[in-house]
Amino acid sequence: MEYTEKKFNLPEEMEGLSKEGISQHLGLYGGYVKNFNAISKLLPEYAGDMEKHGLALVELIRRRSFEFGGMRLHELYFSQWEGGAQALDPNSALAQALAKDYKDAAHVVPYLTAIGMMRGPGWALLYWDPEAKQFLAGFSGEQHQGHFATLPVVLALDVWEHAFLLDYGAQGKAKYIDAFFKNLNWKVLEQRFADMTTGQK
Ligand SMILES: [Fe+2]
Repeated sequence: MEYTEKKFNLPEEMEGLSKEGISQHLGLYGGYVKNFNAISKLLPEYAGDMEKHGLALVELIRRRSFEFGGMRLHELYFSQWEGGAQALDPNSALAQALAKDYKDAAHVVPYLTAIGMMRGPGWALLYWDPEAKQFLAGFSGEQHQGHFATLPVVLALDVWEHAFLLDYGAQGKAKYIDAFFKNLNWKVLEQRFADMTTGQK
């Protein structure tokens, strides 16, 4: 089955993030979807003749999870801005769970900012561990490495340079992260968390 590029209902104006920057970034997202589909198509053919295509096959297998990570993480990323900026409801299950883990739910923002400021292309991610019933924050290098396997992502912050180069320059990561959080619709995250925890004791 082919994956389809998603459309996002983003606000007309976003604070600190230009239309052009978002448009170019959406274009990159589309590339991940295309490349994932293209590699997926080649694999059965290559697997059918390992003598001829064995080396190419293993590299494509490595590459495919990179493309998949780029696809899914960008879908989590852009959808967090849909509906425009909205604050976290302190009475929501998400806010209460965050407060339990981080003393104050608001503390998760500087924590993820610090992770996002790490060097190297990648993502600052907040995961939920349904087994331990706690959050885990981490850094995924590129988009397929360093994940907490099996854990769903509550918040995805892209810190590749392409996310901020146009608006803020090569040294503008901190300003970009600030803008990212200013535009965040916490309602989307509250819903994500609700979906992850539904049915849990
Ligand atoms: Fe990106």
